[in-house]
Amino acid sequence: MKLPLNIAILAAGKGKRMRSRLPKVLHLLAGRSLIAPVIDTARALRPTKICVVYGHGGEQVPQAIRTAGISFVRQEPQLGTGHALQQALPHLGKSGVTLVLYGDVPLIRVETLRALVTAGANRVSILTAELEDPTGYGRIVRDKDGNITGIVEEKDASAVQRKIREVNTGIMALPTARLAAWLSRLENRNVQREYYLPDVVPLALADGIAVNAVKARDAWEALGVNSKAQLAQLERIYQRQYAARLLDEGVTLIDPMRLDVRGSLKCGADVVIDVNCVFEGAVKLGDQVEIGAHCVLRNVAIGPGTRVEPFTFIDDASIGANCRIGPYARIRPGTRLAEDVHIGNFVEVKASQIAAHSKANHLAYVGDSTVGRNVNIGAGTITCNYDGARKHRTVIEDDVHIGSDVQLVAPVTVGKGATIGAGATITKDAPPGELTFTKKEQVTKPGWKRPKKQERLEE
Ligand code: UD1
Ligand code: CA
Repeated sequence: MKLPLNIAILAAGKGKRMRSRLPKVLHLLAGRSLIAPVIDTARALRPTKICVVYGHGGEQVPQAIRTAGISFVRQEPQLGTGHALQQALPHLGKSGVTLVLYGDVPLIRVETLRALVTAGANRVSILTAELEDPTGYGRIVRDKDGNITGIVEEKDASAVQRKIREVNTGIMALPTARLAAWLSRLENRNVQREYYLPDVVPLALADGIAVNAVKARDAWEALGVNSKAQLAQLERIYQRQYAARLLDEGVTLIDPMRLDVRGSLKCGADVVIDVNCVFEGAVKLGDQVEIGAHCVLRNVAIGPGTRVEPFTFIDDASIGANCRIGPYARIRPGTRLAEDVHIGNFVEVKASQIAAHSKANHLAYVGDSTVGRNVNIGAGTITCNYDGARKHRTVIEDDVHIGSDVQLVAPVTVGKGATIGAGATITKDAPPGELTFTKKEQVTKPGWKRPKKQERLEE
């Protein structure tokens, strides 16, 4: 029989060492708040209840999380981890196992927690880790037979106890039915004057309840964030894991140490990603896509065979197959490119649809536009889509050739097969199939002299 599972996520602490006004659990790891993956992990265990204990930073934490099926309880003042769990009790079930997670331990894995929870409701199971440097953690104290007798906080530990490298990760599974009694018996006679959750260990032993340790498979799973340095360290660990998974799937990463995924990156076969690229939100790369160095891609889907050249920024767009984008291109939200479209250097495209085989290769702005097939947009061409108050659309039909340095003053349509002469300012619709240009007279002034700088006389 499966036991009912309750999960309490402790997230009320101030995080003093972050030196920030933002509550600690709302700092970002891989683009998401620290507590977000903890909630995902909690949900994956299919518990009957999840309760988040918040406090420092006021309502910011519940406001940031705001999802169905989670209850929140405010701990005010924050008197320690034992006191925090006590606040959650009325929001949890009365039986089964209660799993305590920390909002600032984001990398913990579902499988590890499963091992902890399946130990059952007749024991206390503590997730422990063996750390090279246990500084700052509570130490697991064992008797000469190796049985756990207690957990001592670093601040309360003797010099000998501080040498222990087996630490309390803070994560533990406890028999729910016992919690009310144990937590009410905690005392705060310690250096921090707090009610420590780990102090339930001797209370459990006194009640004849077994206390056992479960080791985290990888020590990094149990690492907590207390400072910006630790946040940066966990970010690197997360990114290395992500890169390792991509390599396993067959993605070529020129340097897996220089990749940042802040969301999800799904890749087809034979994708190549050069150094220092950042992927945000949901990014999908089709077969044989190549991403040059120093690109930022946010919420983008890219069709097979497309090459994105270095220093390109694509935000909220869909790119077809066999396109060539960049270098130095900027593709803004609402853009859809069909197959074999070329967007070259210093070209900005916004909220535009561009059909197959069309090109804008140099220094152009294409905004709020519908561009047909086989269109060539010359260097320096700009859609003037904004009249100071409203945005207007530009329509460029199939097979149009637009010369260099053209202004298309929207709303305007360039008809199928039309040619627009260089330097034209198009304010009225240009008819299909014809050449349209605006006249600008070229004038030469004979004998004109360029002004010269006055030479300074020596004094
Ligand atoms: C705690 C453990 C320590 C363990 C370490 C692992 C205690 C007394 N100590 O120490 O044994 O090695 O975690 O990271 O439990 N919190 C509240 N309310 C409070 C205090 C804390 O919700 O009143 C929350 C914090 O937001 C945080 C978690 O509990 O998510 C841990 O609190 P923190 O102050 O970071 O405890 P540590 O000193 O790191
Ligand atoms: Ca901590």
